[in-house]
Parts: sequence; structure tokens; C-alpha cells
Amino acid sequence: MLITALVALLGALGVRAGNNKGYEFNSVAISGGGYITGIVAHPTQANLRYVRTDIGGAYRWDNGASKWIALNDFITARDANLLGTESIALDPHNPNRLYLAQGRYQTDEWAGFYVSDDQGATFTIYESPFPMGANDMGRNNGERLAVNPFNTNELWMGTRTEGLWKSSDRAATWTNVTSIPDAFANGIGFVQVVFDPVNNGTIYASASAPGGLFVSKDAGASWAAIAGQPTTWTNETANAFPDKTPSSAGPQPMKVALTTDFLYVTYADYPGPWGVSFGEVWRLNITGGSWDNITPGRNGNSSPAPYDNQTFPAGGFCGVSVDATNPNRLVVMTLDRDPGPALDSLYLSTDAGATWKDVTQLSSPSGSDGNWGHPINSAKFKDGTPVPWLDFNNGPQWGGYGAPNKVVGTTKFGWWMSALLIDPTDPDHLMYGTGATIWATDSLSRAEVDWSPSWYINTEGIEENYALIIKSPTGGPGHLLSGLGDISGMRHDDLTKPQHMFPAPQFSNLDTIDFAGQYPNVLARAGSSGTDYDYGCARGGYSTDGGDAWNVFPTCAPGMNASHTTGSVISVDASGRYIVWSTLLAEQAGPWASPDYGNTWNAPTGLTVQTANVTADRVQAATFYAFDAGVFYISTDGGATYATRGTGLPSNNTNGALPTVNHAVAGEIWLPILGLGIWHSKDFGATWAALPNSGKGLRPYLLSTGAPAKTNGTTTLFIWGHTSSTDTEGLYRSDDGGSSWVRVNDDNHNYGGPTSIAGDPRVYGRVFMGTAGRGIVYADLTSGNGVTAGTGTGGDKNNRGGSTAKCGKVGGKTVGTGIHCVTA
Ligand SMILES: *[C@@H]1O[C@H](CO)[C@@H](O)[C@H](O)[C@H]1NC(C)=O
Ligand SMILES: *[C@@H]1O[C@H](CO)[C@@H](O)[C@H](O)[C@H]1NC(C)=O
Ligand SMILES: *[C@@H]1O[C@H](CO)[C@@H](O)[C@H](O)[C@H]1NC(C)=O
Ligand SMILES: *[C@@H]1O[C@H](CO)[C@@H](O)[C@H](O)[C@H]1NC(C)=O
Ligand SMILES: *[C@@H]1O[C@H](CO)[C@@H](O)[C@H](O)[C@H]1NC(C)=O
Ligand SMILES: *[C@@H]1O[C@H](CO)[C@@H](O)[C@H](O)[C@H]1NC(C)=O
Ligand SMILES: *[C@@H]1O[C@H](CO)[C@@H](O)[C@H](O)[C@H]1NC(C)=O
Ligand SMILES: *[C@@H]1O[C@H](CO)[C@@H](O)[C@H](O)[C@H]1NC(C)=O
Ligand SMILES: *[C@@H]1O[C@H](CO)[C@@H](O)[C@H](O)[C@H]1NC(C)=O
Repeated sequence: MLITALVALLGALGVRAGNNKGYEFNSVAISGGGYITGIVAHPTQANLRYVRTDIGGAYRWDNGASKWIALNDFITARDANLLGTESIALDPHNPNRLYLAQGRYQTDEWAGFYVSDDQGATFTIYESPFPMGANDMGRNNGERLAVNPFNTNELWMGTRTEGLWKSSDRAATWTNVTSIPDAFANGIGFVQVVFDPVNNGTIYASASAPGGLFVSKDAGASWAAIAGQPTTWTNETANAFPDKTPSSAGPQPMKVALTTDFLYVTYADYPGPWGVSFGEVWRLNITGGSWDNITPGRNGNSSPAPYDNQTFPAGGFCGVSVDATNPNRLVVMTLDRDPGPALDSLYLSTDAGATWKDVTQLSSPSGSDGNWGHPINSAKFKDGTPVPWLDFNNGPQWGGYGAPNKVVGTTKFGWWMSALLIDPTDPDHLMYGTGATIWATDSLSRAEVDWSPSWYINTEGIEENYALIIKSPTGGPGHLLSGLGDISGMRHDDLTKPQHMFPAPQFSNLDTIDFAGQYPNVLARAGSSGTDYDYGCARGGYSTDGGDAWNVFPTCAPGMNASHTTGSVISVDASGRYIVWSTLLAEQAGPWASPDYGNTWNAPTGLTVQTANVTADRVQAATFYAFDAGVFYISTDGGATYATRGTGLPSNNTNGALPTVNHAVAGEIWLPILGLGIWHSKDFGATWAALPNSGKGLRPYLLSTGAPAKTNGTTTLFIWGHTSSTDTEGLYRSDDGGSSWVRVNDDNHNYGGPTSIAGDPRVYGRVFMGTAGRGIVYADLTSGNGVTAGTGTGGDKNNRGGSTAKCGKVGGKTVGTGIHCVTA
């Protein structure tokens, strides 16, 4: 109902006004979808919390709006590496101050510090002198960055490859701390820095190596390894699995938590988040200096008793959080028991680790048989909105992490659970992050009396998916079809609510999907990382009901099998009868054509190269286009034979381009030729003409078409790229066939650039944008608020991406220019 009303409203506006209007950006609600690497709370200000993600930046909880606000959407395509948060630090005495250490991969050129005095509404940006790896191994540890509570302009950071560093000017400049041994340049390095909030000058630093716990009592002037720390595995741990050997010589610190009495330390044999098989939990009496092994599950110290089949499960320990009101009350999480006979557990202790409650067992429905989980009907936001895809459709063929729980009707308790927080201002409120979501409870203490806490999902506003493909179909119940990394894909019937995942055939990466232009309930899709089926092709299938039910292809295109890591590209003709599958396997012919939904796949004649650049005409049946190495091809017999055409195409182009078609007019095609411009044909590719400014600044990286402003009017064009030699790289729309363009996004809505864009063929002005870590966003025209598109002020009413960034200045000198910050 809501969508229909919106369509009508926008359609009316489109007729009345020209293109001189502003845009509003919103996220398509999938919710979560990726790895939550950290949850950080301000120690004294209630409900001030931040989350970090590995490839989608950081978020702040807005308690009034009951949702997370993305803080890094201004990051441009060029700076996409900065859209990953390695660490978050808060100033314990000033709740407005926020520090983000940004950088996805150590191999990339840029890493930076984002410094804010207004909780992330605006940032000053400094280039980092050392690399960061928010999506590298060990991202489950930390926090690496910390503010000195006795001198809040001072920050310390444990780096991956350059030892321990210190800043005295709020992250503007940094110096190397050479008084601590740097034996840890293993790509993981110092994983955590913790200041003693009571004793001025006492700092703990931990490195991902056996014996890697250090303390300084003189404000960092000198450091010593902490005496008595475990440096070899106990026999009990080392002998737990006769068929396995620990990956490290001794326990490696994962996370620490400090109280007035104790330093609690979780250990594992590998940095994580994957590959961990052994672990322990220890407690240091910080005044007496004695160490105690408090590993949950040993010597009958946990209840309910460890699951029978695996009394001392594989996996290590990572997450730890202490109740700020009670130093003896803490939680720890296991890491990487999944997959195992018993999955990962959350343990709660109220006696400083002497005994534990297995909260996971207590929370799992009876009959779980070690497959710890939440009932799927509790996978809901606090307001009752379900997150139904978290059941992973109970698909038995699932591959990779995030496999569905074996017990139908439940969803896994989680995996990669390293982000763990007891709310410092509410000890009954606990949150934990997984590889796909955040679970929270307001009744943790129920576990103390052997009762299950009540759980809910807390990812409102977090959208951290990698969109592999998006399509907006010409009809059917949903305006968006998506293929996502790790969580397959879905059809959105309501863009504001999380949806069900597509059912089998299932693969964790859904790489390609297409619809039939005139029969949009006919769909085909393909993907990777599933396992084999007893019957048919594990890599692809089709639907004739808009994607509710699917059939696997009876056979795969030749050469395609379960070991391939991409489903490549699939196209469906306008009539829904012919499917073309470009598998891009070098040793095979193709693009393969099937006239019978995958019973047979035929190698075409006339097109002998593998190419991903194949598109179906949306109106004329059996018609496909391809453009590869500068040559245009057309098939009018369902992909069986191709002919070449193309008077007027640039003769000096040897690139390909994805043909882009008019949803409503047969034979109208555009070719976005990288670096050259856009070529246009209205006669099935027989003759072509360049759009204005081609070769003079019109540089499309991505092109899509959308609904015209008026019924049967000129189809809108959307590009991601440049429309002139002087404009900013961004999202642009043309209503007049490319004579003029208006900017759709602004400097606050870049999202690290798109993986794909899709105009909505049914809603004038709407364009979807798939991203590489910020899910899928969509831009709709605002209701005539007088804002001119392209001025950069068409922000969004939900305050998403309301951040701006400027270059930092130190002593009058602009710094951090390498970060390409927006000069305010
Ligand atoms: C903390 O110790 C430093 C010396 O290391 C001293 O300069 C500073 O004044 C102390 N701060 C407080 C609040 O005690
Ligand atoms: C920083 O110091 C460590 C030794 O603590 C050294 O290994 C590293 O190379 C230094 N890095 C730089 C950039 O000076
Ligand atoms: C641990 O195992 C080693 C080698 O098997 C043995 O020498 C040692 O005595 C054992 N330690 C304990 C405390 O049992
Ligand atoms: C820590 O050790 C000291 C010295 O052995 C002891 O007096 C103290 O009670 C211990 N603290 C706790 C909380 O156990
Ligand atoms: C656990 O052990 C029981 C009894 O031996 C067995 O029936 C069950 O299949 C086992 N479960 C798993 C997950 O291995
Ligand atoms: C899958 O195909 C590749 C060739 O592309 C081949 O090397 C491999 O053996 C095949 N795997 C299976 C399980 O058939
Ligand atoms: C397909 O087109 C894209 C541009 O859209 C181009 O970068 C790529 O090289 C082309 N691929 C092939 C196989 O021609
Ligand atoms: C290629 O041709 C286009 C027009 O067809 C022209 O704009 C461009 O400058 C040419 N490039 C080169 C390298 O000759
Ligand atoms: C739009 O075009 C279609 C097909 O040519 C035609 O049936 C319809 O009447 C047209 N609508 C308007 C409002 O012109």
C-alpha cells in the first residue's frame, strides 16, 4: 500500500515539475548482513554506543529514533578503502568526542583518523602514518585505539605492522613508541590498548603472540611483559583433540577487560575471526600478580554442563565484557566452535570466573542437540519488525559461514561472535555481534537463575551488505531484486522492511539475476559457494512466480560446477522463454543459450568469445545484445546465433561495455564505453550516435535507464561517473536523452561508490545503488522542497549520512590531503 501511494505521488510530481528537484537517500532495509567487528559504549553517558564493521564503516546509536546512524557515507569511490573501521575510541570525559581509525586493507594506500567533536556528525580527517586492516585477520580483536583518561588529547594505537604509536594532539600527528618490543610484525601486531582509569600512568598493551601482554606503570616511558602470564598451553588444552595441534606455541591474547581487581584475558591459537581451534580464559589479580585459569567448561565449572558430544569444544575465546557496576560479573564468548558438534557459547559469571552459566544453552530451545540457536520468530527488532532472512531458509545446500541452523525453526545463536558488551549503564542489557547481525537482551540476569534471557535483533539502520547485483524489474510485487555477498539475495516487496531470502538453490554469493521484460515473474539467477545437489545444477535456477519458488536448472552450462567461485552473468529474454548464461570459463564456449530452462545449453554461432556484456531486449522476444572488444552483436533467435552490426561506433575502441536498454521500447540501446562516452542506437544496433559530450568529459562507469517523467516520454538515463570534464564523480540523471544532466547524490552520499546502479522502470526519478559494504541505497525525488539537485544540500530527513568531512589543519598547515577530504 505504502509503495503504491509513493509511486502515484512521485509520478504526479514528475509531470508537474522539471528535473530541478532535490533527492532523498535511504537504505533498502536488509538489516545487518555482515560482520559486526566491535561494539563500544561510552562509560558514563547512557545509550551512547557505536558499532564498527569491517567493510561498511561505523554507526552511532540514535536512542530517540531507535536506530543506528551511518557515519561514513561521505566517503568517495576513490577513498573506498577508508570505508572500514579498524577501531573506535571514545573520550571518557567528553561524550561528544569520537575517534575512528579507518582503513579496510593494509595493502591499500590510504588509512586515516576521523576525529569528531559532535559524535560523528562532522569529522576532521588526518592521514595515518601506518596502514590499517579493518577487513584483515584479527579484526575481531581490539580496541586498538584508546584515549588517555588523564590527558584526553593523548591517544595510543596498537598497529598491525609498525608497533605501538602515540599521539599527543588528538590523532593529528603520531610518534612511534620504541620502548616496547616489537616482535609482532605479523600483520596482526598490537591488538589492544587499555588505560587503567584509576592509576594515572598505568597502560596495558596486548599483542597477538604468546607472551604478548605488556604493562607500563610510567605513562608509557618503559614497558615490561606481565609476569606469570600463560605462555604455553596447559596439557588439558593441548591434549583436548588428539587429531589437532594448536596453531601457536602458546595462548595468544585476543581481548582483555580491566577492572579494579582483575585483568581478564581471552586467548586463542589464531588471530581469528576464522581458523581458531584452541583457547583459554585467564584472570590476573592486578594487585597480587597471581594468575588463574578460569576457562569456562573445565572441571565442571559451567552449567548447564558442556554439551555431551564435546565436553571441551574446539575453538578459542575472544569476546569479553565486564559489568561496570560489579567487577566480578563478566561475560566471555567462544570463537570458531562453528561448525562443530556444539556451536559457540556465551558464558556469564558472577564470581570473577570461578563458575559460569552457559547462556547459549539456556537460551536454546529444547531439542537443539548442540545446535545452539534462537527461535526464528524471536529474530525481530524491538518494535516487532521481523528479520526473516536470518533463517537462511533452512537450506541444506548452504556453503560457507552463516549456514542455517540444523534445527528448523531456529536461527543460529551466532558465529564470529567477538563484539560483546554489557551496557556500562544497564547491567541487564547485553549485546553481541555476529557475522550477520546483532542480538540484544534486556534481561541478561535471568541466566543467573537458569532461565533464558529474552532476545531481540538490534541492527535497525545498519546496512553492511556487499551488493553483487541489483535489478529493478518492469513488473511484479517487488521493485528490487538483489544478489548479495554471503547472504544470497532477496526480492524487496517493501523497501523499508527486511525480507525473506530466496529459497533453494542456495549459494552464499548470489552473483547474477535477471527478469523477463514482458513477463517479469520469470526470473533466473546463478551464484557460488553452495554445495552439490542430488539433482540438477547447483549453480543456478529459475522461477516463474516472481521469485517465491525456484527450480534448479536440470543441467548446468557446460563446465559450470560447484567448485566455481562465481555464477557469472545470466540474462532472460523479454518473453521469459530463452536464457543466456555467460559462465566466463576460459576453456568453454559461450555465452550458453538455453531454450528450455536449462535442460540443454547450446554454444552460439557468430559470437565465439566469452563476455559478461550480454543484455536482453526488454520488449522484443528472443533478442540479446553483446558488446565485446569494440564489436556489437545481436541475436534474435534466443542466443543461438549472433550477427555483428554497428555503423557509427568508435573505431578506436577495443573495450567492452554492458548494453543498456530501454525498458519500454524495443531496439533502443545505449553503450557506456569506458573513457569515451555513451553511444546510442534506436534501430537494434544497426546505427549509432554518440551522446553530447562523449569524448569531452562524459565518462560513465555505470549506466542504467529508468521510468520517464511522463507516460511514454523520454526514458531517463542514470550514470555513475562524470558528465563533464570538470564535475565531481557521482550519480547523475538525464531526462532529455543525455543533453543535460542533474546530480542525484551529493558529497554526503557517496557510500564509497557503487558496485551497480539500477533505475526503477516504474518510478520516475528513483535509482537504486548497490554498494561494497553499505548495502543497497535508493534515491527518490523529494517533494518539491525547493532544493536544487546537485547543490549538495538535498540531504535526507532521517539524518543518514549527514556527515561532512574536512581536511585537518595542524599549526595552520592543511594535513591529510592524501585522504582527499572535502575542503569545507
Ligand atoms: C597524570 O600523570 C602525568 C604524568 O605522567 C601528569 O603530568 C598529569 O598531571 C597526571 N594527571 C592527573 C589528572 O593526575
Ligand atoms: C616503529 O617502531 C618499531 C619498534 O618498536 C619498529 O619495528 C617499526 O619499524 C617502527 N616503525 C616506523 C615507521 O618507524
Ligand atoms: C604435560 O605434558 C607433558 C608432556 O606430556 C608432561 O611432561 C608434563 O608433566 C605434563 N604436565 C602436567 C602438569 O601434567
Ligand atoms: C589479589 O591478591 C592479593 C594478594 O595475594 C590479595 O590480598 C587479594 O585479595 C586478591 N584480590 C582478589 C580480588 O582476589
Ligand atoms: C550427540 O550424541 C548423541 C548421542 O550419542 C547423538 O545421538 C547425536 O547425534 C550427537 N549429536 C551431534 C550433533 O553429534
Ligand atoms: C569443475 O570444473 C573445473 C573446470 O572448470 C574442473 O577442473 C573441476 O574438476 C570440476 N569440479 C568438479 C567437482 O567437477
Ligand atoms: C564489459 O564492459 C565493461 C564496462 O561496462 C568493461 O569494463 C569490460 O571490460 C567488458 N567486459 C568484456 C569481457 O568485454
Ligand atoms: C576515439 O574516438 C572518439 C570518437 O569516436 C574520440 O572522441 C576519441 O578521442 C578517440 N580516441 C583516440 C585515442 O583516438
Ligand atoms: C503509451 O504507449 C502505449 C503503447 O504504444 C499506448 O498503448 C498508450 O496509449 C500510450 N499512453 C499514452 C498516455 O500515450
